[in-house]
Amino acid sequence: MKLLVTGGAGFIGSNFILYWLKKYPQDKIINLDKLTYAGNLENLVNSEKNPNYSFVQGDICNLQLVNQLTSNIDTIVHFAAESHVDRSILDPAPFIKTNIEGTYILLESALKNKVARFHHISTDEVFGALPLDSSDKFNEDTKYDPRSPYSASKASSDHLVRAYATTYNLPTTISNCSNNFGPYQFPEKLISLAISNILEGMKVPVYGDGLYVRDWLYVEDHCEALDLILHKGKVGETYFVGGLNEDIPNKEVIRRILKMMGKDESHLQFVKDRPGHDRKYAIDWSKMKRDLGWKPRHSFDEALEKTIDWYRKNQDWWKRIKSGEYKKYYKTQYG
Ligand code: NAD
Ligand code: TYD
Repeated sequence: MKLLVTGGAGFIGSNFILYWLKKYPQDKIINLDKLTYAGNLENLVNSEKNPNYSFVQGDICNLQLVNQLTSNIDTIVHFAAESHVDRSILDPAPFIKTNIEGTYILLESALKNKVARFHHISTDEVFGALPLDSSDKFNEDTKYDPRSPYSASKASSDHLVRAYATTYNLPTTISNCSNNFGPYQFPEKLISLAISNILEGMKVPVYGDGLYVRDWLYVEDHCEALDLILHKGKVGETYFVGGLNEDIPNKEVIRRILKMMGKDESHLQFVKDRPGHDRKYAIDWSKMKRDLGWKPRHSFDEALEKTIDWYRKNQDWWKRIKSGEYKKYYKTQYG
């Protein structure tokens, strides 16, 4: 395969590139990434000399550049996005630009250059919020109900992908996954922020009552799911990718991390809630299991241990991030 990976210097994209180059050394990957605050080429230093890998710094909103790159590949794997809900609340503009317009540009280019597959990475957040006491789960038939600028922009991009599939027969697939965690995650999301804060001797901010529920997916398990979708997935289909079979409230997630790191609960700090905070996400990933034979390889606790270990061993990586622009963001977000 010849792949154009967008957003490959970000958290999931870089994990995907490392996974793919190792498993399919004969495939070629072009990584198109703008290198926003979230893009980090350090994640890919070990691939720099690989003749089958190349990096292009650029914006997915640049049609000319995207056309040039798309003319030479057969598959687009589209990760590039503004991805953090809290930042979308502070400033929605880049979310609208990259997530909606950027996806449109990629779709136009994919159509023009007749790519064999356009795979779009999306999120379970586009389906809104479940009540805490409900045992319902999102599935492939759930109606869209996005509630934050981030999820609204991702929902728009999903709709555009489906519109291009229906109207122009573009061969697309979509995956809606739950909250990822693992190596190379920018320390602004709950688990990466919690582990790095604890390693620095800081407290972990818990929004509101801490009873909010997310589904958690280890990034390596996500990469395996994407591999199956790209090789065996059916064109036109949407696949849900999740990690858990139980509800684990945020407070409990942080408690587990504290315990694994030998710390007590005095490290929890309850802070003001996120506006419009979605109560609960839960995802039914049985279609991935039934149709493609996928299931997450790691239990939540195993994956947490691996992630903690990675952040322990790679302190330079996140300390460099935390000493830069991040400081200003942290102050704005947490005071
Ligand atoms: P990330 O924020 O870590 O990385 C995003 C990458 O996209 C960065 O490298 C950034 O430089 C690049 N980028 C941003 N704007 C760009 C532009 N205009 N042109 C080119 N590159 C640009 O994000 P992530 O956590 O790796 O998420 C990847 C994808 O997965 C996103 O589409 C996100 O919506 C989706 N997703 C993420 C999660 C999660 O838990 N992280 C969950 C569900 C879905
Ligand atoms: P986050 O990692 O931002 O992912 P998302 O909002 O996309 O689900 O947040 C996960 C959950 O953790 C969410 O309920 C908000 C909560 N949270 C905190 O309690 N404290 C924090 O500092 C952060 C970043 C998130």
